[in-house]
Amino acid sequence: MRRALAIALVLLSASCTNGDGAVTATTGVTEATSPSFTPGAPGIGDDYYPSLGNGGYDVQHYRIDLAYEEDGSVGAGVAIDAVATQNLSGFNLDFAGWSISGLQVDGTEVPFSRDGEELVITGVAIADGDEFRVAINYSGTPAPYESAALPFPIGWFDGPNGEQFVAAEPDAAHSWFPCNDHPLDKATFTFAVRGPAGYGTAANGERVLNDGDDAGSASKDGGVASQWEMTSPMATYLATVALGRGWQVVADPVSTEAAGIEVRNFLPADLSEDPPAALERTGEMIRTLEAAFGPYPFSRYGIAVVDGFPSALENQTLSLFGRQMVDAPFFEYVLVHELAHQWFGDSVSLARWSDIWLNEGFATYAEMLWVEHLHGSAAYREEVANRTQAARIAGYGPPGTPPPDDLFNGSVYQRGGLLLAALRDEIGDDAFFTTLRVYSDRFADANATTQDFIALAEEVAGRDLGVFFDVWLYGDELPEG
Ligand code: ARG
Ligand code: ZN
Repeated sequence: MRRALAIALVLLSASCTNGDGAVTATTGVTEATSPSFTPGAPGIGDDYYPSLGNGGYDVQHYRIDLAYEEDGSVGAGVAIDAVATQNLSGFNLDFAGWSISGLQVDGTEVPFSRDGEELVITGVAIADGDEFRVAINYSGTPAPYESAALPFPIGWFDGPNGEQFVAAEPDAAHSWFPCNDHPLDKATFTFAVRGPAGYGTAANGERVLNDGDDAGSASKDGGVASQWEMTSPMATYLATVALGRGWQVVADPVSTEAAGIEVRNFLPADLSEDPPAALERTGEMIRTLEAAFGPYPFSRYGIAVVDGFPSALENQTLSLFGRQMVDAPFFEYVLVHELAHQWFGDSVSLARWSDIWLNEGFATYAEMLWVEHLHGSAAYREEVANRTQAARIAGYGPPGTPPPDDLFNGSVYQRGGLLLAALRDEIGDDAFFTTLRVYSDRFADANATTQDFIALAEEVAGRDLGVFFDVWLYGDELPEG
């Protein structure tokens, strides 16, 4: 792949476009004013959240460097490797808050402005198909983000014990790093995380540099540093970092042995010494879900436990759990739920947020499969019946059209999960589990829509399922069983 020629307008007088669209540096024509070079779109085309994501390029890799200081401030840098998908005279990134101290495209300072949550970069000439690198230095004190989709703030959290962590679903990734903030543009990630002495640090993927290895330059007063590589494509909202005084990355040899992949958790001191019993069933859960969904999609797994987070979130290879979830009797079921999202949500990602039932319905169905694994098929039937009755009482609306300002409503979880139980009854175990396994495999590390899932189920079952899906996804009433 060619490197892009992306230069500030002042330098552009020496470049032009040759016949096949590649940028050359031979004449006095400036591409930025040429009609074939235009700004990338300010949104990627999501029907619910039109300003999320951007057009005109495809991110390949993010490198995020982040140093948290004891006073709560963060100094950060991001390097974004992208490929242009059109001739670009400029492009947007999504970014809210912070103060930007420098922005370069391929090593050259370029003009930029900030328009709400759009970071607007101009003065470049990048030819369709060319690679380019955007490097941005920024700093500030991270602030909670008012999501368009949820009634409570998300993004960067400052926990009661000084823990720092990120929970960004669906729209808060761009509140902590500049990005193309939509699951349609997945990319690999490197995280370099620095913190004060005594802190543990974690991020998605594989730890390639340990806390303390690089302590000299870790923070202003010395401290800790770790580096993490996420080598499978990841949606921006699943990127996370976590820091906590006394936190540790703790191996789980029992689960690692059972699952055949590395299982490790990021835990506060008391849980490091005495991990909850359910946590050691992670390996058994991975095996159980593999039997239903096909091979676990990544090379490692685990959870990060923090105080000050009200729920749980399926960050890729490192799901986040609020401490009260871990101490609750239903912890085991939330563990299964977030684990199932590694297949459905993380590996197979949404193409548009309105399809959220494809994430939450599937993860909720996994809880029913765990009942079946533990207690057999009669208990599974009873579980489905109980949830059906509860869903009727709740009067859930259609899961296929959730309210944009309450995206994670009960319907996408419960009616979405019950849809899958009903589909299993409708087409039989063989066709049902084949559908789930082919879906996981065909759309792995990519994106799928509701229509993709329906088409696949019809292909496997060998018949039209249009009416079935219509009433389940879009009907006002929960269908009769
Ligand atoms: N996807 C999450 C789950 O496992 C919930 C997301 C909504 N909550 C949040 N804090 N973002 O169900
Ligand atoms: Zn979920």
